[in-house]
Amino acid sequence: MNQRKPKRIGILTAGGDCPGLNAAIRGVGKTAIVEYGMEVIGFSAGYTGLIHKQYMELKEKDLSGILTLGGTILGTSREKPFKPDKDGGNEKPDLIKQTYRELDLDCVVCIGGNGTMKTAHFLSKEGMNVIGIPKTIDNDVWGTDVTFGFDSAVQIATEAIDRLHSTANSHGRVMIIEVMGHNAGWIALYAGMAGGGDIILIPELEYNMRSVYKKIEERYDNNKPYSIIVVAEGINHPKKGTMSAARYLSEAISEFTGHESRETVLGYIQRGGSPTPMDRILATRYGAFAAQCIAEGNFGTMVAVKDNSLTTVPLADVGGKLRLVDKEHPLILKARKMGVSFGDEY
Ligand code: F6P
Repeated sequence: MNQRKPKRIGILTAGGDCPGLNAAIRGVGKTAIVEYGMEVIGFSAGYTGLIHKQYMELKEKDLSGILTLGGTILGTSREKPFKPDKDGGNEKPDLIKQTYRELDLDCVVCIGGNGTMKTAHFLSKEGMNVIGIPKTIDNDVWGTDVTFGFDSAVQIATEAIDRLHSTANSHGRVMIIEVMGHNAGWIALYAGMAGGGDIILIPELEYNMRSVYKKIEERYDNNKPYSIIVVAEGINHPKKGTMSAARYLSEAISEFTGHESRETVLGYIQRGGSPTPMDRILATRYGAFAAQCIAEGNFGTMVAVKDNSLTTVPLADVGGKLRLVDKEHPLILKARKMGVSFGDEY
């Protein structure tokens, strides 16, 4: 919208929250203020704050003490401002442009996942200066090797799997733990491997129950008195929509094999609480780099990590795509060689 040296920027966090959002806000804000002398405001509740001009000024002192905090000090929402109303109209994009103009902004930093990046791209097409920062526990944002929030979720899920081992062993049970990830299997694959899961089911690999039963029976036959199954919430199953994947597996396994089984759906615990050191660092790097991109006028982009180096990718390339687990992912290949089942062996 204007080409002047960036002086005043806005930040928002949108979509599902995750550990590291405050670290990213702090990274952008502190760098913008300290290094580049910019003014920073934070919009409330994602794109809702941008539509309704709800915001707070963020001074450097406001950004102290938030690095380790879970959630987001700005609040978040799943507002999609470009989605037409029931009657087909939509005044939200105009309201957003009005806010941008009235607050005299030079850029809005949109921190979020796939949906947030899609909207950020639309805003960019409307002529606003926008930069995206990828976050989500699901790790499924296209264009970057990693999103912050993922490492924390894997840590929480791994700890849960560790704890299930001892109770599974005591009772000789099949324990099924369902982790988040939306349509991607990243959390299940990483936590499953870190926690020593015996069977890992992810949406990217087509499983069959015969294979799952066989693996469980093999373990009992080999005097391994229990099994741990790590399942991604996004797998397909016949009862989808009426029961969780874990519940479906648990019922099917106990019915078919006769072994006792129990399910745990880990849920929102994976999204709450303090970020891991890795996520604090990743979010800080992304935030500080986003501020640098603003100073350099590198707009319409999402900051990304490729081979551990920071870079940018055009927002136009990111929207509407998902980064799923490759069927030949090195971790999957290694796991198979160690006897881990992905439910697709037979
Ligand atoms: O995208 C993050 C995520 O936590 C997914 O893993 C999960 O499917 C979804 O959000 C839950 O969303 P909501 O906050 O709308 O319940």
